[in-house]
Amino acid sequence: MVSCFQDQENMKSSKKSKKNDGEGGGLTKHNSFLGLSILDISNPSSTTLSEDLSISLAGSDLHVFTQAELRVITQSFSSSNFLGEGGFGPVHKGFIDDKLRPGLKAQPVAVKLLDLDGLQGHREWMTEVMCLGKLKHPNLVKLIGYCCEEEHRLLVYEFMPRGSLESQLFRRCSLPLPWSTRLKIAYEAAKGLQFLHEAEKPVIYRDFKASNILLDSDYTAKLSDFGLAKDGPQGDATHVSTRVMGTQGYAAPEYIMTGHLTARSDVYSFGVVLLELLTGRRSVDKKRSSREQSLVDWARPMLNDARKLRRIMDPRLEDQYSEAGARKAATLAYQCLRYRPKTRPDISMVVSVLQDIKDYKEDIPIGTFTYTVPTTKPSREVKETNTHLQNCDKPRISVQKSDQQHQKFRSPAHTARNHRIALRNGLNSPMRNEAGGERY
Ligand SMILES: Nc1ncnc2c1ncn2[C@@H]1O[C@H](COP(=O)(O)OP(=O)(O)OP(=O)(O)O)[C@@H](O)[C@H]1O
Ligand SMILES: [Mg+2]
Repeated sequence: MVSCFQDQENMKSSKKSKKNDGEGGGLTKHNSFLGLSILDISNPSSTTLSEDLSISLAGSDLHVFTQAELRVITQSFSSSNFLGEGGFGPVHKGFIDDKLRPGLKAQPVAVKLLDLDGLQGHREWMTEVMCLGKLKHPNLVKLIGYCCEEEHRLLVYEFMPRGSLESQLFRRCSLPLPWSTRLKIAYEAAKGLQFLHEAEKPVIYRDFKASNILLDSDYTAKLSDFGLAKDGPQGDATHVSTRVMGTQGYAAPEYIMTGHLTARSDVYSFGVVLLELLTGRRSVDKKRSSREQSLVDWARPMLNDARKLRRIMDPRLEDQYSEAGARKAATLAYQCLRYRPKTRPDISMVVSVLQDIKDYKEDIPIGTFTYTVPTTKPSREVKETNTHLQNCDKPRISVQKSDQQHQKFRSPAHTARNHRIALRNGLNSPMRNEAGGERY
């Protein structure tokens, strides 16, 4: 398989001056990125870029859309089609069919409009296109196409009717996710990571978190947002050295401290999400008492103690879960969250443990909490639930950005705009200060 991107930092460290050692800048014309001339990267409005892109992506089934087409399918990005907004701009629902392009399957899509702010946003857009253009798996969100016109950058994905795990797990007005669904999501998200880690040229995802796990109508979990993904270490190398990027509360401690990235950094983030699924709590919750703000710090001592485990399980589950399964899942989370990366399980081990736990059903108490995940097309009941969720989501449109509990560390450009923090290295990082310095 072709690598979805080259190791930008490693390339840079050998070729450029020290003052340019950040991930977002300092590349020289001699370097290349994703097989494209760096001239094009540093000039996102270059018209040759879109030609270069289609050459690089030849053989992939990505469609190249025009801005005008995307405006039509989203009704001019109308607010009624607004799905949400993350760090890179708004996402709108649209609908495509073969009237737009012969051969296009009629289906709803999500159109992400990148609010480009300099080189970094463009770089992450490129990584996303190259990565999802080449990597295909049932547990990775499907990229249908893109638009690269002048300075405009858009991405068109398959539409995921149930939004993100974050919204399903934490929104007060959503129905509580049943235990079996939580395990299904954990298992499938782990399968997505396994596919990346075990690719011929392994990929480190680097941004594993609840908001990046999208859910299909039957709760199939798919990873989205590959803008931070990196090629794994090559040859005898044990890690990739990068500028620290990710989201507070999910990033592995050694990665924050040293910038050393390995597949086990993703495993740590997986452990955080597993903990969120068990407890129904966010990885960072500033509204809680200081002792409970960091989920990992609060929950870790109770994960290996069967009696204490009950105290941290999500009360919204109303005890409708397998105790044996919860114990095993808690032990798995504990292992994923170990300080020393080498002592964490690898992702195939995580997948096999979760596969096992999914079958623990005998000791689930029979109570009033019944909910069946549809396995085929959404039933009427599910559609009603969807409507309920959408209605619930609508007044939150303006809330979504301010509601963010996590701080993301990326480029300075994004910091200014989206409350994100770029960290050159973990030792002097704002994140460490905010987390109390010794939190990890
Ligand atoms: N393919 C999709 N189908 C349905 N909804 C989507 C899709 N992609 C994104 N969304 C929704 O759009 C919103 C914004 O997503 P986006 O990935 O841009 O930001 P985020 O994950 O919340 O934050 P971050 O920028 O840190 O990744 C989310 O509410 C998400 O559920
Ligand atoms: Mg996202």
